[in-house]
Amino acid sequence: MTALRRLWTRDSAPQALSACTALDIGTEFAKALVFEIGDDGYGTVRGVGRKRQGLSHMQSGTVADIAAVVDNCAVALQEAEEMAGFRPEQVVIGIAGELVKGFTTVHDQERARPDVQITEQELGKLIEAVQRQAMREAERSVTWETGLQSVDVRLVHAAVVGAWIDGYAVTNPIGFQGRNVRIAIFDAFAPLVHLGALQTVAAKLGMDLIAIVAEPYAVARVLDSEQVRQGGALFIDVGGGTTDVALVRQGGIEGTRMFALGGRAFTKSIADRLDLPFPRAESLKVDYARGIAGDRQAAVHEIVADDVAVWAAGVELVLEELASGDLLPGRIYLCGGGSRLAAVAEALRADGFAKRLPFARPPEVAILAPEQIETIRDETLLLEDQQDVTPMGLAYQAIELGSSANPLDASLRRVVRAMRL
Ligand SMILES: Nc1ncnc2c1ncn2[C@@H]1O[C@H](COP(=O)(O)OP(=O)(O)OP(=O)(O)O)[C@@H](O)[C@H]1O
Ligand SMILES: [Mg+2]
Repeated sequence: MTALRRLWTRDSAPQALSACTALDIGTEFAKALVFEIGDDGYGTVRGVGRKRQGLSHMQSGTVADIAAVVDNCAVALQEAEEMAGFRPEQVVIGIAGELVKGFTTVHDQERARPDVQITEQELGKLIEAVQRQAMREAERSVTWETGLQSVDVRLVHAAVVGAWIDGYAVTNPIGFQGRNVRIAIFDAFAPLVHLGALQTVAAKLGMDLIAIVAEPYAVARVLDSEQVRQGGALFIDVGGGTTDVALVRQGGIEGTRMFALGGRAFTKSIADRLDLPFPRAESLKVDYARGIAGDRQAAVHEIVADDVAVWAAGVELVLEELASGDLLPGRIYLCGGGSRLAAVAEALRADGFAKRLPFARPPEVAILAPEQIETIRDETLLLEDQQDVTPMGLAYQAIELGSSANPLDASLRRVVRAMRL
């Protein structure tokens, strides 16, 4: 039995933790947060660590060199643990990359006998039907994208988005009568090779991996605000190697998409076009983003503009697909180090961008800052900008997973265990 399967075979919700580590293994940086979990369900960050990864260590969001990544993570972890003054055993790791498929499946069931109360067994059958449908969809899309017939795709992460009986939202359908039951479940699937690599990293670090979480899901949950629930939102995490997009609509997360373009591509263009070594190009870019005028500012400006246009076209494609014919929410939250370039937000604010997509009005574009995140407090004062939002999201997932007393989530866990997905 693999470690991952063990995650899902825990009968009830995982035991409440008092402290945990969140590890975001990004293309550009390995980031670690050590945090405590209070009884109030909030997290408090006590230690922060970061280590830059080498150019060959990751491949667009996925691990390419296990040994090197373990070394980088160990450095980031040690820094965070020393700052915190303690070392949690448990870790939550984020997963990203183009082949991670996250989507919500909505399933409607007409009941033959509406007067009979819904039982645990009936609910289990319903969840199973949803999960089978989701698995088929994930396999189909990975097969189509890789061109390989038999990619081993595994369930990484599953969460109930909502349940309704005859149109009324319920938190637990058991015991209700009614004709139409609707249930929505978010699932993230990933090829076994990626998952396995993360499990190996955790094992080599000597940590107990309590969950692997789809990063865009974590980012989309972290605000936990009424505004997002009511009006929906788009979350865009522009990292070094990938851009992850999550759509929240009608109160729940509907889907996530990722494409392999991020800040590193911008740096690479500067390096290629100005014929500079990568580290020099990186510092030129960062200086430019900070408004520090360098000798080649005009050239950098032009190169960045060209690349951001390509990036925005990528976002457009992804949003069109996610929208699937319906209106997109009027709010976009940006995070990730790549979004520190002002041109990134500007591209999304441009008239043409909104016009080509099903927005009811031009979207408001905001940068997510750590202080907006109420679920996780930062005692270290070292979490300073949008680059730190993803690990904070992972930390919040550790808390959500542990505190989920929702019987629907418990049923989902049982079904997933029985199905051996
Ligand atoms: N001040 C800055 N100005 C411009 N770009 C920056 C700045 N600071 C960081 N970046 C860019 O942000 C990127 C790294 O962001 P982040 O740490 O979010 O990525 P990651 O999580 O490691 O990667 P991924 O999520 O793609 O796996 C790098 O490309 C870096 O050049
Ligand atoms: Mg990232």
